[in-house]
Amino acid sequence: MKAAKDYIVFSLDVPSLKEAKQYIVLLSEYVGMFKVGLELFISSGPEIIKIIKTSGKTKIFLDLKLHDIPATVSRAMASIADLGVDFATVHCGENKEMLEAAVAGSVGKVGVVGVTVLTSVSGKDINAAGFRSEFSSDISRLVMNRAKMAKDAGCAGIVCSGLEVKMIKENFGKGFVALTPGIRPFWEGMNKDDQRRITTPAQAIENGSDYLIIGRPIRDAKNPKEAAIHIAEEIKAVI
Ligand code: C5P
Repeated sequence: MKAAKDYIVFSLDVPSLKEAKQYIVLLSEYVGMFKVGLELFISSGPEIIKIIKTSGKTKIFLDLKLHDIPATVSRAMASIADLGVDFATVHCGENKEMLEAAVAGSVGKVGVVGVTVLTSVSGKDINAAGFRSEFSSDISRLVMNRAKMAKDAGCAGIVCSGLEVKMIKENFGKGFVALTPGIRPFWEGMNKDDQRRITTPAQAIENGSDYLIIGRPIRDAKNPKEAAIHIAEEIKAVI
């Protein structure tokens, strides 16, 4: 059975291997997965994946948010597949071909996850980007369109906010994995930072999220280990 800590994906949003290692040692027993994003992968490369694997305790999520022509995305995903990570992201973007290329490149070795609409984006941003008002007035419609593209392309799941996850699960089934960033625990004082579509850990889990992607509320806490334990307790109370 999935333990409460297994729902927590800690974002290793740090600039160097040295700092990443400190968090890996500190948090390996208290989270279920480590996420490596652009900042750390650009500075440290595949070495960081080897280090997490050596710790042997958690899953790995490589969040590089690919977005390019299908041929390039397919080849990039093929390289990612060789790294041996559990999940990797690609933007859902404008058409299904890029997502299909990502899935083809993964050759079944890594779960391809489509990023629907970033949780830092608001309806106002969608309007300014030129989308029709039906999408800017209700971002979940755009999330649903993009989730459908990801599902049809054969992706393992999507990244969306905890506000949209219920709708995703109702429409695409429990097996379609939903990872949700924009998590802000109440006890953190709900500092939104640059996030816009936020939920608490309990809200996201109650809505059906499979994994909570959490960075700053743990990384910047006075005691990151205690923060992870506290979040796991909140999750335990609702699973
Ligand atoms: O610090 P915070 O908890 O806001 O971190 C969220 C993490 O999730 C960051 O690493 C960010 O890149 C990632 N993320 C996101 N929105 C998405 C996909 C990933 O915030 N749609």
